[in-house]
Amino acid sequence: MHAVPPLEQDLVDAPVDTSPAHAAASPEVIPAAPAESAPSAHSADTTRTSASERATLEAVSGAPVRDLRRVGIHPDFWYPLAWSHEVKRGKTHGVTFAGDPIVLARTESGKVFALEDRCAHRQVPLHQGVVDGESIRCGYHGWTYDCSGKCIDVPYLGRERLPNGVRSYPCREVEGLIFVFPGDAALAEERPIPPLAAVADPKYKTRRFGRPVNCHYSFMHENLMDMNHQFLHRRQMGQMRARSVGRRRGENWVEVDYTFARMAGQQPIGEAIVFGQSRKTGGDNDKDVMTIRTEYPYQTLQIRTSDQTLVMSLWIVYVPLDREQRTNRTFGLLSIRKPGIPGVLNLAWPLLVWFTERIFKEDREIVEAEQRAHDSQGADWNHEVFPVINELRALLREGGAPDQIVGAGTGDTAIIRFWDSRQGNPLAKS
Ligand code: FES
Ligand SMILES: [Fe+2]
Repeated sequence: MHAVPPLEQDLVDAPVDTSPAHAAASPEVIPAAPAESAPSAHSADTTRTSASERATLEAVSGAPVRDLRRVGIHPDFWYPLAWSHEVKRGKTHGVTFAGDPIVLARTESGKVFALEDRCAHRQVPLHQGVVDGESIRCGYHGWTYDCSGKCIDVPYLGRERLPNGVRSYPCREVEGLIFVFPGDAALAEERPIPPLAAVADPKYKTRRFGRPVNCHYSFMHENLMDMNHQFLHRRQMGQMRARSVGRRRGENWVEVDYTFARMAGQQPIGEAIVFGQSRKTGGDNDKDVMTIRTEYPYQTLQIRTSDQTLVMSLWIVYVPLDREQRTNRTFGLLSIRKPGIPGVLNLAWPLLVWFTERIFKEDREIVEAEQRAHDSQGADWNHEVFPVINELRALLREGGAPDQIVGAGTGDTAIIRFWDSRQGNPLAKS
């Protein structure tokens, strides 16, 4: 067993490879860590090394470093808050983003809009109201709001005395997902919704999946990016060994390449479905390259065969549900390239669904265990030794909300309050 490289060295002095292969697209190219630097079950130091990690970061930056598990996701991005089919015509649908209640409504004409889910009158949830034409009517006294959140009717008041309305959110429906921009609405236009796997490409069939997971979104990013956890999936996948073969970092992204070798067991049926169309035999998987990328706040996973055919493309995001951000709802789009013979993938689809569900369940249970450990300890004691994950953590810290965020107020006075968590919560003092 080789020594684990000190965290400080990796965090501060990661060597930079300027090989031309990636230089054009990648501001920073970092060669793969040696396979021996993968997490070791024999690490002697099981003390609270996150404290030393923080101390190192603090020494470098001169600023206190927050516990990543308490970093709020940045709201100035488009987040899916529901699948299209969940918001039925003429109905409301209540969701949350990091504790902020939001009502989605599909009007009689089929348009979807998003408002603060809190009536300006007595703050009852608007999703308990009704869609009335192109507006929402609160279920209590009937105050009515249009798609901009403006109050357009109070049944017992004259039109000239209408009160303020509620906050509205930029809202778009794309490829079966309803996206909302929960942050500064002025930024919504300039921030594009990213490409969503290969959902728009007819050469691919896409599975939509996801469910609530009881953990901070950072655990989800780490779970997908750290392929050294194949042991967890040994019952589904057989014994696979992942090897990181390169990693790159840009201003708002980190990505890593892996190859895989089967050490024992049979190729699982789900994997055979993904690769079956690309190979004559199923076992030659050590030339495939899997690239996992976190481009804040989204994550992608792509698998290319040796001839560069993209056989699988995943787009996924983890949307915090509660204010503490200890739960998230995962939205994933998994595109599989169709084989040459029409219909084969459709026939195999139920097996692929079954396979991916089992994998997802194992991942969900283990990240929820991580969150429980964090909660019971009251802090992050992680002993992380895999360089890619330390880079990912730095990215998630840098990309996260600058401080904790509280949505407050209603109507056109709605504000988002930023405060420095190190100075304490001003709302708590008032
Ligand atoms: S609480 Fe909504 S109309 Fe009164
Ligand atoms: Fe996994």
